This record gives sequence, C-alpha cells and structure tokens, in this order.
Amino acid sequence: MALPAGFRGLPDGGPLRYTPDMATENHHDDPLEPLVAAEFPVAERHIYLNHAAISPWPERTRRALQDFADGITRDGSLHFPEWQDKERQLRQRLAHLVNAPGPESVALVPNTSAGLSLVATGLDWRPGDNVVITDSEFPSNRMPWEALADQGVEVREAACTPAGEADCEANVLRLVDERTRVVSISSVQFGTGRALDLERIGRELAGTPTAFCVDAIQSLGAFPFDARAVHADFVAADGHKWLLGPEGLGVFYCAPEWLEGLRLHQWGWHMAEPFGDFDARQWEPAPTARRFEPGTPNTPSNHALEASLSLLQEVGVDRVGERIRERVDHLIAGLEDLPGVELISPVDPDRRAGIVTARFGDRTDTVYQALRDAGVQVLPRAGGVRFAPHFYNRLSELDRVLEIIRAA
Ligand SMILES: Cc1ncc(COP(=O)(O)O)c(C=O)c1O
Repeated sequence: MALPAGFRGLPDGGPLRYTPDMATENHHDDPLEPLVAAEFPVAERHIYLNHAAISPWPERTRRALQDFADGITRDGSLHFPEWQDKERQLRQRLAHLVNAPGPESVALVPNTSAGLSLVATGLDWRPGDNVVITDSEFPSNRMPWEALADQGVEVREAACTPAGEADCEANVLRLVDERTRVVSISSVQFGTGRALDLERIGRELAGTPTAFCVDAIQSLGAFPFDARAVHADFVAADGHKWLLGPEGLGVFYCAPEWLEGLRLHQWGWHMAEPFGDFDARQWEPAPTARRFEPGTPNTPSNHALEASLSLLQEVGVDRVGERIRERVDHLIAGLEDLPGVELISPVDPDRRAGIVTARFGDRTDTVYQALRDAGVQVLPRAGGVRFAPHFYNRLSELDRVLEIIRAA
C-alpha cells in the first residue's frame, strides 16, 4: 500500500503514525507553534482529534503531577499549605472560566454526572413536576432525571435532530410549562456537535420558577462561557475533555441564590463550617459551594487541572475558541469537497462548536479504520466519525486527515 506523504512506521514497528516533521505544509508561521511544540508531545505521534472524549495533557500538566508526586513521596503532607494554595488558584481559574461571581460559587466535584446529580437530588420535587432535556443528551444528563420517576417526575425530550435543521431552542421552550422545575441541556451535543443558544433559553427562563442547568463539558475550555450572561443556575463540566486536564475532577457552578435551595445528600468534615475544627459539635454546611464537597479533595488532580487551565488561560479562551473554529471550518470545507460525505454536524456557523461528525455512506467503517490505522485519533459517534480538534492541532494535520479519507 502506498503511504500518504507524512506517514511512516514507528521505529518500534508499531502502527503507522503521522509524523509532522515529514509533512509538506509549513506550520511554522503560526505564532503559537513554539508553545504547541513544547506543550503537546502528543502531536509527534498522533493526529489527535479526540478532545470530545479524553484529551492528552499538556507537558506542564504532566510536570505538575510529577512534582506533586515527588513532593508527597519525599515529604508526606509537609507541603499541605502549598496544596491548599493550589486548590485556591484552581477555584479562581474555574470561577473565571465560567464567569462566576467568585470562587465561592464553584465546587470541585468528581465529574459532570456528580454535578448534575446534585441538582436532580437536591430539588424539592412534587409528583407531576417535569424536567425538559433534549433528545440528544449524553446519559449523564438523562439518567439523573429519569431516576426521579418514582417521585412522579416526568422527563420531556425536545427534538434536536437532525442537528442542522431542528429549531432545538424553540422545541425546548415549547415543552416548558408551569410544572417544569428545570431545563437541563448540554451546551454542545456530544454526538452531533450542535451548539445550543444558551442565552436564548436562559433569557426566557430568567425570572420564572424554572431553573436552568447546563452540562458544559463539550464546550468549557474550548469557547468562552459566561454562566451569568446565559442566566444559568447550575453548570457542570469535567476536566478531561476541552480543559485538557485529568479525569475524575470536574466543576459545579451554583448560582448564589440557589446555594441554600439544593437539599444536601452527602456529608463530611470538608463541607462543614467552622472549617477544620474537628472537635466542633455544632456545625452548618458551608455558606459557599464547598457545601457540595463532603470529604478530602482530589489533590493530585487539583494540581494537574490547575496546570492545564493555566495554559488555556495563558493562550486566552477567546483565542482558543477562534482557533478551534478555524480548524472546524477547515475540516468542514474539506469534507464538503469530498464526494459521498454526509455531515451530521450543523454547517450553520452559529450552531457549530468543536465537533464535526460525518458519515461516509457504506464506507463509514472503512474510513474510520483507515484513520485509526494511520494514527488519527477519532471515535465513532452518531452513526459517523467524530472529529474534535483543539486549538493546538495544526491545519496540516487536518489536510492529512482529508487525504486519508479521500484515499479510503
Ligand atoms: C455531554 C456530555 N455530558 C457528560 C459526559 C460525561 O460526564 P462525566 O464527566 O460524568 O463522565 C460526556 C462524556 O462524553 C458528555 O459528552
């Protein structure tokens, strides 16, 4: 088989991998190239387009975790005050990322599912209440609501497919009535990559008894996000996708007016006020989002996520978003030029995010396999192949991907 330019076998005889040093295109004009080269060794081995699943870590994130491991291995808990500083910095960064009024509005949670479950188990449900979601949610934003069936809660699914045509926002709002306690939707749908107009929905719900909850895992870190501008009451996301961080550490934003409105179901020393007084027999849940954090924090991951966010915030999330958009536009334009390609993702720029999903007729499996064999990291989703580039992917990598698809 003739190899497309830019491909060769690894010295260890492993699978064929793309090697950017063999690429014909010149990416050295990119002012971010030195940072990309220093922070993303993943690009030396793969064309990594799987940021909607699990992202590779930047080099500084690996170093942060390594330093933490070295410290605790050598000195045990001696550096505890520094760990607490790191945690404070992380909260600041997360608060900034979602535009919370301050770090006291964000809780560190294990994942998105845990954050969404805090809302589902925390609201005071009455039989006959309902929740509005869409027909394209990841299980984590469906199951917590479906689990309320035994309390007489109905889950309503708004039509959001086909992703390029359905007026998803209007369909969501149409399902809302006086018994709707919460509208819970993902900012970007995991399969099709459709971005929802959060502001349009949040504006309609603001001032009504219906709360607005956003699963932001498929956009946080990739694009600017403003919980207050979209009138979100709750936001949940995890660190391992567009935030380029570790698995098992996410963020839960709770609008200040809701802090006392969610019934708590988990208890432990870390959420108590006064904080750190293990002899106190009188305590209250913290008046901040720390009330959602019952026990010992995930300190290793706090270090890793703080490092990842430092990179994103150094580049600037605005700029990250512009670059992702440029990459997505490039990919869509290339795919539209190929015969027999069906785009599942919306082509309307207002509905695009960082995910491009495409079907290749009865060649979809073949194309997917050809990409994987060539070291292109993608996944099958929504009946097609899902491409999810981040800001550091080189445009030349996307051209390679298009070549492989054409050849397949
Ligand atoms: C939209 C969406 N929500 C939630 C999740 C996962 O949630 P968690 O952070 O709980 O693993 C995913 C993972 O793919 C997702 O795409």
